[in-house]
Amino acid sequence: MVLVVLVGMMGAGKTTVGREYARRHQMRFVDCDHEIEARTGVKVPTIFEIEGEAGFRRRESQLLDELTHETGLVLATGGGVVLDPANRAVLTARGIVVYLNVPTQVLWERTRNDRNRPLLQVSNPRERIESLFRERDPLYRAVADIIVDGGRGNPGGMVRQIEKAIQ
Ligand code: S3P
Repeated sequence: MVLVVLVGMMGAGKTTVGREYARRHQMRFVDCDHEIEARTGVKVPTIFEIEGEAGFRRRESQLLDELTHETGLVLATGGGVVLDPANRAVLTARGIVVYLNVPTQVLWERTRNDRNRPLLQVSNPRERIESLFRERDPLYRAVADIIVDGGRGNPGGMVRQIEKAIQ
């Protein structure tokens, strides 16, 4: 049994693709943000408001460390998980890491009306996506075992790319 961990930007489709991959392979699926919300009883933006981004990142790192001991699990991470070198070490050591690489134009279209992502609540969210992508793309690549092309934005196609690479 394996641990499959999906990484990539906000709006890349980690939750949709991860859930579908898990369903097809009879694996358990956990979305890190949803799990943090379930455990704290509040939404991610509220955690950012009360504890700051640093508080959210601590919770995220703790959860990653806890869940990556499991196998038979598909884990969708938050887009910022790769910022912490300790998280990157955990990812490379414990899971098959799949980077969903999606063009920033598509990311922008998918996230433009979303109020649940505190890092995009800025005056120029499109520019923010570009700068986050420039910063993070090399980090996603550094931890990835598999890079999936999400350019056409088709979740089924991304699932098949993962299946081909893992078999
Ligand atoms: C973040 C991405 C979000 C969530 C938080 C921070 C980021 O997750 O963890 O808002 O830093 O990119 P998604 O990638 O699931 O949107």
